[in-house]
Amino acid sequence: MTRVLITAGPTHEPIDAVRFIGNRSSGRVGVELADAASGLGWETTLLLGPSALEPTDSRVDLHRFRTADDLRVLLDRHFPACDVLIMAAAVADYRPARPAGEDAKLRRTGQEMSLALEPTPDLVASCASRRRLGQLLVGFALEPRDELMASAESKLARKGLDLIVANPLKTMDASTIEAWLVGPGGVVSQTPGPIAKADFAGWLVGQLSERRSRRSDGAAASSTQ
Ligand code: CTP
Repeated sequence: MTRVLITAGPTHEPIDAVRFIGNRSSGRVGVELADAASGLGWETTLLLGPSALEPTDSRVDLHRFRTADDLRVLLDRHFPACDVLIMAAAVADYRPARPAGEDAKLRRTGQEMSLALEPTPDLVASCASRRRLGQLLVGFALEPRDELMASAESKLARKGLDLIVANPLKTMDASTIEAWLVGPGGVVSQTPGPIAKADFAGWLVGQLSERRSRRSDGAAASSTQ
């Protein structure tokens, strides 16, 4: 049985006990992907950030994270056993370098304030660097329309992924998504225009399933030669 690991939703990086740096990801695409993968009979684990949504399929193994570091720990635990990783989470690229702590609250001073930020590690690139043979790694790239393909192709190579789902910035907060599936040789497939996120999930899982069966047919053919 195919084991799929999906990440979804935003990260919240604490500034102090009551404030954080977050982003507008709703987590919807990843949650729909988990339902679609589980519906196909795949053993599905979903790592979900601070999102109001949850999968409806009770077979999905759900784990919650808040920060990029929580997600790193969960990936360390769950990535080695998966066959497919779909990294749909909108992970912070920077976090407060010195958060004030869980019990502290920054006070108004009337003065200008600046917040020192430090980069977070690239989690999917780190998974790619320790991948097993046969694991399929899929990332997401949410980009301005005019930079979509160039950015997707450079992220694919830089992060060491097999596929990247390129989609325009307007996907965020929208109920639909228009996406291009990009591999090392360029676009391998695209949605027929903007489609509902639930339909997109079925479409993407179908593409990955086809790809995995082509791979295993290829492996079977080469082992009989
Ligand atoms: N990603 C990750 N770890 C991070 C940031 C992003 O694993 N710290 C993953 C996302 O889950 C996504 C892919 O990398 O699958 C692309 O995310 P994106 O934010 O578009 O890429 P960045 O590396 O942040 O590139 P840039 O800042 O140039 O947009």
